[in-house]
Amino acid sequence: MSARVALVSSERGLRVDPDLPIAASALRDAGLAVDLVRWDDPDVDWAGLDLAVVRSCWDYAWRRAEFLGWAESVPRLRNPAPVLAWNTDKTHLRDLAGAGLPVVPTVWGPTEAGQLPDAGEWVVKPSISAGSRDTARWTDPAAALGHVAELTAAGRTAMVQPYLASVDDAGETAMLFLGGRFTHAVRKGPLLQRGEGVRQDRDSRGDLRAVDPTPAQRAVAQAVLDAVPDLVPSSVPGTEPPLYARIDLVTDDAGRPVVLELELTEPSLFLPQAPETAVAQWVTAVSAATR
Ligand SMILES: Nc1ncnc2c1ncn2[C@@H]1O[C@H](COP(=O)(O)OP(=O)(O)O)[C@@H](O)[C@H]1O
Ligand SMILES: [Mg+2]
Repeated sequence: MSARVALVSSERGLRVDPDLPIAASALRDAGLAVDLVRWDDPDVDWAGLDLAVVRSCWDYAWRRAEFLGWAESVPRLRNPAPVLAWNTDKTHLRDLAGAGLPVVPTVWGPTEAGQLPDAGEWVVKPSISAGSRDTARWTDPAAALGHVAELTAAGRTAMVQPYLASVDDAGETAMLFLGGRFTHAVRKGPLLQRGEGVRQDRDSRGDLRAVDPTPAQRAVAQAVLDAVPDLVPSSVPGTEPPLYARIDLVTDDAGRPVVLELELTEPSLFLPQAPETAVAQWVTAVSAATR
C-alpha cells in the first residue's frame, strides 16, 4: 500500500501557497497518497497518516500555543514539535549566536537610546511573527523605541537590529535544505520601505529569483543547519537534520553573510523558482521520512 502523507497548511495557505501544487504532484508522481489539509481541521485522522509535513501554517504566529499543542498531538510530524517550539520564537537566534554562528546583531527589548545597536537606521520586530507583520524600519531612535514600547506593552518580546543597507540592493538570500541537503538558493528583494512605519499588508514574497550562492554563503548556511540538532531543547543531539530548512542570509557592513532568519516551521520553499533537482530531493526526503 502506498504511504499516506499530509501536507499541512492553513485556510489561506491552501488557497495561495504556490509550493503546494508542485510539492503534492511530485509526491503523487512518486506513488505516495497525498492529502492537503489545514492544521486546525478537526476531521483529519492524524494518527492514520504515515507522515504529516508542516508547510504553510501561516496563522501560527497569533495562535502559537494552540499550534504547538496540535503539533505535540500528531504522532509523525515533520518538522517535529520540539523543533517547532524552538523555532517559532526568534529568541532562538540567541542560541545560534551563542554557538558562534554569525547572526544579525540584535538587541532585545531596549528601553533607552543608549541601548540601541550602533546604526543610523533600525529594524524593530516582535520575536514571534512571520510575513514581516508588526515589523518596521526607523531612522528616528525615538520612533524605534516607541515601537519597542508598544510591543512590550502588548506582552511581546521586541528585537532591534541595525537596518543592513545591503538589503536595499542585494536583498536577502534564502538557502534551502531538504532532507539535510542543500538544494537551491533564491534571492528575495527588500520588503521594508524607509518612512512607511508598521504595515500589516506587505506582500512578504517580494520579488524572487534563483541565484547561485557564494562559497561563504554555502559555508555559513551549512554550519547553521549542522548546529540545529544540538540546539533544539529535548531533541537528541546528533539526530537527523530537519526535513526542511530555510536559512535567510543577508550581508553585513563588512561584507560577510549573516543569518537574518532560520525557518524550520513553515518556510516557503520557493519551489516555482527551484530547479528540478530540488523537487526530486523533496520527493526523496519526504519518502524516506515516511519509513
Ligand atoms: N536587520 C535587517 N536589515 C534589513 N532588512 C531587514 C532586517 N530585518 C528584517 N528586514 C526586512 O524585513 C523582512 C522581515 O523580517 P524577518 O526577520 O525575515 O522576519 P519574518 O520574515 O519572520 O517576518 C525581511 O525579509 C527583510 O526584508
Ligand atoms: Mg523573513
